[in-house]
Amino acid sequence: MAKAFSEKRYEAMTYNRCGTSGLKLPAISLGLWHNFGGVDSFATAKAMLRRAFDLGITHFDLANNYGPPPGSAEINCGKILKSDFKAYRDELVISTKAGYRMWPGPYGEWGSRKYLVTSLEQSLKRMKLEYVDIFYHHRPDPDTPLDESLGALDQVVRQGKAIYAGVSSYNGARTKDSAALMKELGTPLTIHQPSYSMLNRGIEKDLLPVTGTAGIGVIAFCPLAQGLLTNRYLKDIPKDSRASKKHGFLKKERITPELRAKLVKLNAFAERRGQSLARLALQWVLRDPRVTSALIGASKVAQLEENVKILKDAPLTEAELAEIDGLLA
Ligand SMILES: NC(=O)c1ccc[n+]([C@@H]2O[C@H](COP(=O)([O-])OP(=O)(O)OC[C@H]3O[C@@H](n4cnc5c(N)ncnc54)[C@H](OP(=O)(O)O)[C@@H]3O)[C@@H](O)[C@H]2O)c1
Repeated sequence: MAKAFSEKRYEAMTYNRCGTSGLKLPAISLGLWHNFGGVDSFATAKAMLRRAFDLGITHFDLANNYGPPPGSAEINCGKILKSDFKAYRDELVISTKAGYRMWPGPYGEWGSRKYLVTSLEQSLKRMKLEYVDIFYHHRPDPDTPLDESLGALDQVVRQGKAIYAGVSSYNGARTKDSAALMKELGTPLTIHQPSYSMLNRGIEKDLLPVTGTAGIGVIAFCPLAQGLLTNRYLKDIPKDSRASKKHGFLKKERITPELRAKLVKLNAFAERRGQSLARLALQWVLRDPRVTSALIGASKVAQLEENVKILKDAPLTEAELAEIDGLLA
């Protein structure tokens, strides 16, 4: 039998309301994009999910294509949920998505009803779950009518295969239209998953005003810019880092001398506050009350333990935020 989880797991974490919905998400959520696939250590993956839950991280985020190979993160997560989390399904928020290429032919990607509905069916089988808590359309489809993609989200929620509906990487205008369409359908658009970090601030002008007005929660993906906003790349490119990996999405070329100089300055600023750059970057993303959760990745248990320390860090002041703006300029 799997070891029990800590009785104190809900004591330190903060849970934020997702927009105007009833759903609360942990300030830090864990994504399984990297380090949970068939090519990765299953023991480490399991240790990270277990430790995350012990730390109050109740939300695990997946997508049909996470791996590699595609689908293997869902398979591994399903195995671990079965062996270690069987008694805890109602304490967890599990999400998955469809949008990117998953199988050959015209029905294996984008946003048709055919693709979205059948992809969720496959995800549930891989994870051995009856339902997911959130099902997302993973990326905007320029060709499929918006009401068809959103109609598929409404359909799976009504079927009980997902509890909440979300979209990812939709721009502000499309999100505004989506919120109105979903309202008409009777299934609210509960959550948006955009990329957001100190190095990628596009949503501040375009999306956040829309989600704020529409009452949609925001879970920021890549809040550490895939590890750039940590101590990983301040001097060199460590062998066990994402930028060194064959399957990683972070290209070495991204780490230019100019970027490194900026990261070194941000790191010094974080050190003056008595924290790591990773913690500064997470606190920064969460400074805006319209951001519900920071969706991190991790390759080691120790990274999770470090990152949840933000819950005890002093909040960023207006003067500090202005100084950070200067460092980022
Ligand atoms: N919707 C979408 O289109 C989309 C796209 C991308 C991601 N996502 C979601 O967002 C999640 C997070 O993405 P991400 O993994 O790129 O997020 P991230 O949090 O920006 O980067 C995670 C990486 O940062 C490093 N790291 C984390 N904590 C650290 C610490 N305390 N000290 C040093 N290094 C640390 C690790 O790198 P190393 O591996 O090098 O140790 C880790 O793998 C994904 O799993 C997925 O669920 C969604």
